[in-house]
Amino acid sequence: MDEHDMLLSPGGVDALRTALTRAGFTSNGIAARLGPQATGGVARNDFRAALRATADRDPLGTLIRVFICEQTEPEAAVAAALAPLSLDEALAGGLVERQGDGLRMGLDLEPYGDEWWVLADVPASARPGRPLHAEHVLGIGGATQTLIGATVRRPVETALDLGTGSGVQALHLSTHARRVTATDLSERALRFAATTAALNGQDWELLRGDMVSPVAGRRFDLVVSNPPFVVGPGTTTHVYRDSGRVGDAIGAELAAAAPGLLTDGGTMQYLANWVHVAGEEWDERVAGWFAGTGLDAWVIQREVADPMAYVNLWLTDVGHTADPQRMADWLDWFDAHKVEAIGFGIVSLRRAGHDDPTVRVEDLRQRVEAPLGDRVAGWFDRQDWLRVRDTDGLLAARYRAADGLQLRQEATMGDEGWAVDRQVLAMPHGLRWTEEIDPLVLALVGGADGRLALRDQLALLAVAHDVAPEELAEAASPIVAHLVERGFIEPVTD
Ligand SMILES: C[S@@+](CC[C@H](N)C(=O)[O-])C[C@H]1O[C@@H](n2cnc3c(N)ncnc32)[C@H](O)[C@@H]1O
Repeated sequence: MDEHDMLLSPGGVDALRTALTRAGFTSNGIAARLGPQATGGVARNDFRAALRATADRDPLGTLIRVFICEQTEPEAAVAAALAPLSLDEALAGGLVERQGDGLRMGLDLEPYGDEWWVLADVPASARPGRPLHAEHVLGIGGATQTLIGATVRRPVETALDLGTGSGVQALHLSTHARRVTATDLSERALRFAATTAALNGQDWELLRGDMVSPVAGRRFDLVVSNPPFVVGPGTTTHVYRDSGRVGDAIGAELAAAAPGLLTDGGTMQYLANWVHVAGEEWDERVAGWFAGTGLDAWVIQREVADPMAYVNLWLTDVGHTADPQRMADWLDWFDAHKVEAIGFGIVSLRRAGHDDPTVRVEDLRQRVEAPLGDRVAGWFDRQDWLRVRDTDGLLAARYRAADGLQLRQEATMGDEGWAVDRQVLAMPHGLRWTEEIDPLVLALVGGADGRLALRDQLALLAVAHDVAPEELAEAASPIVAHLVERGFIEPVTD
């Protein structure tokens, strides 16, 4: 561990871990204690059943009441639950705070995964009316989980978490990286990350500084970042949200830094927002971030918000809902820059070291099969397969339709029976793409049973459809490459 203060002394962290372990304050321990009904209630912020199940205020019950159900509890019960951590240290470290005669949580101490705990600030929603600290440390929210799910989890030597906050991404990295480095601009956030690391028995290199500056000149096998990606005029009120960069420049800045950060074959994944500007194609704009980087890039847009909904969301996130001036300034900036919408998505980059990298920026708003990280890894694997094959290589390969692939038809009843209007291929698994196809492609996919080389399959189709085989092969190869890229058909490798 580097020289970063923690929220508690090293002895205090050990004592807290002892208290939590002894009480069984883990995700599994809590679920076992509460049972399915109360656990379901807690997930909906309905704590009634959980409070009934913990009424005897034993240590586990008290910890659940304080840190899960957000209750104020008697001092003696809280002191007993946290022992051997002294109450004085818990108060000084901000873990609990006084409220009337009792104590309530001062920090969000979240049991996470099977055996982990994550320390973060209490969210705005739990302290209505209290302004968020400018260096508020984010708990495990939707964006955090999106990056956790999207990360390619293959074993690596070195991994970097840029903008670590609570340290939750670093915690996940520690499961498959031999060495973990985590950075943050905020010294306060680094105190949280250091405490999360120590509480979970982890040893990370923690560095303070602006984005990539603390690791300048160093390379990593895997880099992840859930940066302050919120777009707007570039003013900063909360460091977890605002980068201080104008518009969506943080996304472009990370793209530009990626080639210098990655080892050969290294992967970088980050969350980003991008503006949709009137008169511009959003995907071309985002693709421009990767021009000249030499990196393979796959950018998937998962959500799109209109400016009003976007500003509302982020004002609510920091408890600034009743601030019409702030809202007006932000919306005016969007108007002035012709921003019609804001996209949210995941950028995955790879330093594969070839001259002709693939840059794909696409809408992928359907629900995908979890974990998304496996889908990202599969996408890059398919790019590797495609890259080394020209048209002849594609024609020589055999293909099999993806497991469970479905055909959906829309047809209209006419005088002569059903007339098919649309045929759509649908993947029930994985990325769950759907794609409208014509009868020839349908026949090609339908015949992909892994036995015939594509060349032979196309020769049969050429006869059946009365077209020249060379013409068909020429026309089919980009379509086949696309179907492979999306996973509708898979090359047979045995
Ligand atoms: C959205 S939070 C993500 C926290 C955590 N990694 C997660 O996934 O939940 C962004 C983090 O980036 C940090 N940060 C903000 N601006 C930064 C900058 N210019 N350089 C490095 N870190 C920054 C913030 O302090 C915050 O911890």
